[in-house]
Parts: sequence; structure tokens; C-alpha cells
Amino acid sequence: MASSSLSVVLLLCLASAVSAQLSSTYYDKSCPSALSKIQAGVAAAVASDRRMAASLLRLHFHDCFVQGCDASVLLNETSVGGNERGAFGNVGSLRGFAVIEQIKKDVEAVCKKPYSNNGPVVSCADILAVAARDSVVALGGPSWEVKLGRRDSTTASVAQANQDLPPPFLDVAGLNASFAGKGFSLTEMVALSGAHTIGMAQCQNFRGRLYNEPNINTTYATKLKLNCPTSGGNTNLAPLDDDTATPPNPDLFNNDFFINLQSEKGLLHSDQVLYNATAPAGATEGIVNGFASSQAAFFSAFASAMVKMANLSPLTGSQGQVRTVCSIPN
Ligand code: HEM
Repeated sequence: MASSSLSVVLLLCLASAVSAQLSSTYYDKSCPSALSKIQAGVAAAVASDRRMAASLLRLHFHDCFVQGCDASVLLNETSVGGNERGAFGNVGSLRGFAVIEQIKKDVEAVCKKPYSNNGPVVSCADILAVAARDSVVALGGPSWEVKLGRRDSTTASVAQANQDLPPPFLDVAGLNASFAGKGFSLTEMVALSGAHTIGMAQCQNFRGRLYNEPNINTTYATKLKLNCPTSGGNTNLAPLDDDTATPPNPDLFNNDFFINLQSEKGLLHSDQVLYNATAPAGATEGIVNGFASSQAAFFSAFASAMVKMANLSPLTGSQGQVRTVCSIPN
């Protein structure tokens, strides 16, 4: 009796270990065209708005850092424990919700029914993870394999979002603490910050640095000040990466972000702190130098850190649900 209940426990453990694994073939039977539909949806969105690639990448990051990659960021009802869209780092800033919702519809339309009793097949969390990868690839960045089978949460947490999403006024110690809290090394944190090679930031998020910090390139600062005055213009945008590609192509995913840090052209305080040209070298200068001198090294570190991010505490097996509409629980 004792040994049979032990084997039941062992079997249960085994089952949950297996179900806790994501797999690259998860939708092969139920929705074989899911990946190509997501890629097409990203391509269409990026064709009409190149910035959307950056927005979709950030959406996935802000999903995974709060309750794991469970699409909690997409919920817009306070009834489920809070609306993460309203958290400090998200409100008035996160973009791409409508694009994800459209992709979700397009994907479900090609899935094989009657999988899941004719219910939805592909989770919003998986769509976010794949769309982030396809966005980076669309702008010339590295690719990586996205394992699938995440399920969607029925809850969100604005409190956790406020606590876990790193704000742009952090120094290296704060950034390191934020990322170490999710299991990332310092090198991985620096690599992931390289996501700021694409996309835009609002004046209110870099004004403090622009007008108060000495370690900003003068020509660069003069240019930024034209569109980010000392007061007003809070939501005016500037590229996170003053791209040096020839011909100029501000939306290319490359390692210029790190090269710019070396000449004090980081837009956010939290970016420039990774490289201080005058003070004795801290823990991150060597990492920045490595990525600045080798795009291949950056691409490879970024891709593996993204795989790690996409695997942050997913809901699997019978946990959570697959939402019908990404903004509301079923
Ligand atoms: C290291 C800590 C980080 C901080 C403090 C930070 C902060 C910010 C801030 C303040 C903005 C501008 C938001 C606005 O003004 O509306 C931004 C934009 C962005 N962030 Fe981060 N971020 C960090 C890490 C990351 C990571 C890890 C990723 C992805 C892997 C990422 C991807 C992006 C992208 C792509 C944008 C541009 C979005 C767009 O143009 O819509 N960030 N980030």
C-alpha cells in the first residue's frame, strides 16, 4: 500500500515535470500554421510601422518580468487583480496590444478544430514570445528557437508590475538586482539592455539625464534638447539608439547601442550607467566593450538571454487557460 501510493506520487511528479516543459513542436498537430501566421502578422505590422517591432519586443519583456510569461500584461480588467497596463513602466508607453489581438484572431482562424472542444488553441503568451523573436529578426537581429506551450494567466498584478519592472533612473546595482531577481547574470542584463538598439523613449524618461548629467555627448545633447525642452513636451520621442549605420537606419537591430555608450550617447540614465568613460571601470564596461567590438558576440548573448526570458515561470499543462481574447480572461 505504502509503495503503491509512493509510485502514484512519483507518477504525478513525473507528469507535472513533463507538463512543465515547453516544446518546439507543441502546435504541430493542433495548429501547424501558427508560427507562419504570427510571422506574417508581425511582418505586416512592422511594414506599416517599423517601431512596432520594438514595441512587441518590449511587450514580451514586460509580460515575462511580472508573474512569468503568462500574457498577464495584456489583461485590461482590474477585476482580475489589477491592470498591469496601468503600472508605472507601462501606462502611456506600452504599445502593440491591437497587433497581438489581430494576430491572435488570424492564428485561431487557421488552427485545426475541434482541438480543445472548438475552443482557442494558441495562447496569447506564446504569441507574445514568438512575435518578439520575429520582430527582432524583421529588423535584422538574431533569431532563436521559441519553445511553446505556455498558457495564459487568469490574473494580473499591478503591484508586482510596479515592483518588478526596472525604472530608467536605476544605477548598475539596481539594474543588477532587478535582473538577478529573475535569474539573470550581469552579462545577460547588459545583453538584454541592448534591446534599446531599437525603439523610442519619451522626453520625460530622459529629461533628467539630458539636463543634469555631465556624461552626455555635447552634440548629441544639443540635438535632443531641440525636441525635449526643460518643461513641456513630456511625450516627445527620441530614438533609444542614435544609430550610426550608413546609410542611417535608426530602426536596425545591431550593436550600435553599445558603440554609442562608449561615446556617451546613451539616451536613458539606466543605459549610460553601463558605461562610464571617465570613472574607474565598473563591472559592466568590459561587457559593453565586448558587445561594441563584436556584433556576433552581442547577437549570441542576446538570443540566449531571450530564450531564458521566454522561459520565466510559464504556466503549463492544466495551469491557467488559453484565452479566447487576449485582453480578457475566458
Ligand atoms: C535594463 C533595464 C531596462 C530599463 C530601465 C528600461 C526602460 C525603458 C524605458 C524607460 C523605455 C522608454 C519608454 C517610453 O518612454 O515610453 C524603454 C523602451 C524600450 N525597451 Fe526598455 N528597459 C530596460 C530593459 C529592456 C529589456 C530587457 C528589453 C527587451 C529585451 C527592453 C526593450 C525595450 C524596447 C524595445 C523599447 C522601445 C519600445 C518602443 O519603442 O515602443 N528594455 N525601456
